[in-house]
Amino acid sequence: MTHTVNAPPTGLTGTDLLVTVGTVRELCDGIREVTFTGAQALPSFTPGSHIGVRWGTGVQNSYSLTGPCTDPDHYAICVRRDDAGRGGSAWIHALRVGDQVVITPPRSAFAPISVARHHVLIAGGIGVTPILSHVRAAVQWHRSFEVIYSHRPGQDALADELQNLCGDRLTIVHDVDDFWSHLTPILEDSVLGTHLYTCGPAMMIDAVAAAATAAGWPAQRVHSEQFSSAVATGGAPFAARLRRTGVLVPVGADVSLLEALLERGVAVPNLCRQGVCGECRVTVRGGRIDHRDFYLTDDERAEGDTMMPCVSRAAGDQVELEL
Ligand code: FES
Repeated sequence: MTHTVNAPPTGLTGTDLLVTVGTVRELCDGIREVTFTGAQALPSFTPGSHIGVRWGTGVQNSYSLTGPCTDPDHYAICVRRDDAGRGGSAWIHALRVGDQVVITPPRSAFAPISVARHHVLIAGGIGVTPILSHVRAAVQWHRSFEVIYSHRPGQDALADELQNLCGDRLTIVHDVDDFWSHLTPILEDSVLGTHLYTCGPAMMIDAVAAAATAAGWPAQRVHSEQFSSAVATGGAPFAARLRRTGVLVPVGADVSLLEALLERGVAVPNLCRQGVCGECRVTVRGGRIDHRDFYLTDDERAEGDTMMPCVSRAAGDQVELEL
């Protein structure tokens, strides 16, 4: 590698993997596919899994894997550049073939249900990435499925690949009316044992879940992965007291509790940093919580003894953690 902008972060930890950029491909305006190869065999993964890509100092973004999941000879991710974000997507858009990158092993939080009789897969925008992974697996294992892919004209990332895999099981829509005219009959006529998977913006996920509930779908058959780059992690400053050491960790207005803890050298496992995967869950011993995650159940929130520090904050001046 001759340029230094994308030098990998130092200090591989634990199960981190050091991989090399194999290819980069601009799929459409602002969306780029990057593939990684490893010096050693890359682990297989469950469809719908994601990896964390480490960039900057102690920062990571998570991205769904879009390539084959069994004995993969590469990992592929697709990243939409977000100029209003923290810089992770721009960092990836600056990667070049041959650059080395530190990633976490794949983790699954959006796996297909193997006993489902039929899979209805719904993708909104860049939310197509885990859906493509599900489709690959469904084709490989001869599962019954259908896909609705909603995207803006010209923002058709991975549409060709999806079309090749799906044939007439793929419906592409460009507006809300078209979306509902295809989805509503599916929700109303689904056979018992059908599972519904949605990945896209929060509003889309909420609307699909509400429509499924109204059509009589039990919650156990409705799955989603939030594409939540817009999740708000900032807010009023507060402090976290670590019960085991008594240390008080200040959390500024623009940083997450997780970032503040990691900066102080407090090891907290984490992956998605979007309140989705549940990896960073910590036990709370005192203080009220401003829950912002998509992981905990309403009952767990009401108990008030656990929180996701990647997105959630103290509701008051201080929160005490079992750390
Ligand atoms: S890191 Fe995934 S929920 Fe916090």
